[in-house]
Amino acid sequence: MRVLTVVAVVLFHSCLSRCADDGYVPLVKQQYADKINNQIRAQITMELQASYLYQAYASYFDRADVALPGFKKFFLQASKEEKEHAQILIDYVNKRGGSLQFSDIKLLDVCDIIKDLSRTVDLSGRRQQTCICYFVSQKRQLLKSKSDPVCMRPRSDWSHGLMAMEDALLIERKVNSELLDLHDIASSGPTKDPHLTHTLEHIYLEEQVESIKKLGNYVAQLSRFSNDYRLGEYLFDQSLQ
Ligand SMILES: [Fe+2]
Repeated sequence: MRVLTVVAVVLFHSCLSRCADDGYVPLVKQQYADKINNQIRAQITMELQASYLYQAYASYFDRADVALPGFKKFFLQASKEEKEHAQILIDYVNKRGGSLQFSDIKLLDVCDIIKDLSRTVDLSGRRQQTCICYFVSQKRQLLKSKSDPVCMRPRSDWSHGLMAMEDALLIERKVNSELLDLHDIASSGPTKDPHLTHTLEHIYLEEQVESIKKLGNYVAQLSRFSNDYRLGEYLFDQSLQ
């Protein structure tokens, strides 16, 4: 009996040390796959990247040579919401006994994501870069080397509000497609996870679709001010305050 107890204690301790190495919480973790955990971690990074981008854009609209307080307010609020989305996922991983490791959040990574996406859609002025994102990044000089004719124009000629809303729309579409991928992985096969699909459906997917629709409306409305863009942008800014 004593031998059995000793073996059990040894096994328990070896399990604890092994479990501590992979970061999971075995007392809580149940039917929660590695692949799901890694995908949620990637989603947390994506949400924080979006939050960081929006915070940087809010600062851009607060510059005295841009001065669009309604857009600043919009992007500050959007940044806060994305951070909350990340926090909900962080809490979710802990709730499931998962393993969290935080990645670096780099603005340039987000600029590159937008740049890649912008080549697949028809943006205003046919630009294929994110002018504002590179301008607010620590590698502003990349704007020159990337030589997009729209970004190369003097900044006073940029359609700041329209460009920013287009960038936000692209990022929200990217976030949504990552969420749908996560939902797919959790829907069937060895990674099937009904609790996660329930959480995604009730907390994330509806809000994401709403946000894409709202940004689509904003882009359409701002694009209509083709004769006097500056006046239209000013009026639009008033509506966001
Ligand atoms: Fe989000």
